[in-house]
Amino acid sequence: RKYEILYNFKKKGYHKETWNSKMINKAIILAGGMGTRMSPLTKAVNKQLLPIYDKPLIFYPLSILMLAKIKDILIIVNKGQLNQYKKILPDGKRLGINITYKEQNYPKGLPDAFLLGEKFINNKNVALILGDNFFYGQNLTSKLINCTKLKSGAKVILHKVIKPELFGVAKTSKTGKITTIKEKPKKYFSDLAITGLYFFDKKVVEYAKKLKPSLRNELEITDLLKIYLKKKKLTSDILGRGGAWLDTGSIEDFYKTSAFVSAIENRQGFKIACLEEIAFNNNWIGKKEVLEAIQFYGKCDYTNYLKKMIT
Ligand code: DAU
Repeated sequence: RKYEILYNFKKKGYHKETWNSKMINKAIILAGGMGTRMSPLTKAVNKQLLPIYDKPLIFYPLSILMLAKIKDILIIVNKGQLNQYKKILPDGKRLGINITYKEQNYPKGLPDAFLLGEKFINNKNVALILGDNFFYGQNLTSKLINCTKLKSGAKVILHKVIKPELFGVAKTSKTGKITTIKEKPKKYFSDLAITGLYFFDKKVVEYAKKLKPSLRNELEITDLLKIYLKKKKLTSDILGRGGAWLDTGSIEDFYKTSAFVSAIENRQGFKIACLEEIAFNNNWIGKKEVLEAIQFYGKCDYTNYLKKMIT
């Protein structure tokens, strides 16, 4: 009987992880925002489409979701900017994933992702990644896969920073439990920033509906996390010093992150966030789709890399 079930699972094409307890198969990328701090660069083009070294910024958070083996993705973009995104990431077919879009009228705050995404979420657990967040590091993939096993509650990834006042911040107890959360605290209480990658159970939509705008007139992700904290349902994982988390909020950050990617790629010869490479290694696409991608991008360094990968 056991083998029969396993056989049926395999026949239907379920991945081993699904069989093992993967609970999160859907994710939202929040890729709107006005990018005011980067104006005039962001007047005509959305921030997440600007380059981080050799690829648009959006490739990096998308690659993180793909490494977490999440295939069903909703990208939330600014009203009027959908066509810009569809030119580079039409529907995900070329990557063996499913990409859908939703427009946000104005930047109402991060939890708006769950209000706009209610239908997409469809009463399932879901991950959220901010379109301007960059993650890199050894063992990141296994950490991510582990986070997708979340059954109930919420999980955040923490990372030590020098300027905690710029981020959502968490304080943890000696046993690693989160005790306090604050959004951009003026007074120091911890140096653990809450990164822009979150894992939630299906209750997230219900809780997001209860939120009220903060003093800066936005729905705050930290207020949403506080609901889980109050219910003792908030857990965390730390991205340690061997990993990098960079938030690309300013022009200076863009250059620093680009320099980081350039240094790694030109030293190792591996690309960071090459979407087709991840899809190919996940067995989501084959040579045919990679050749189509080569055709789509045209002659460039990125396609030289893809050509090397399949020969
Ligand atoms: O980067 C991590 C930090 O992100 C967290 O530590 C903070 O708790 C969290 O509030 C957030 O802070 P930021 O001030 O960096 O968020 P920002 O307003 O820059 O938005 C992050 C991304 O989300 C950015 O690419 C724009 C997009 N966005 C933002 C808002 C408010 C939207 O697409 N829609 C929105 O309504």
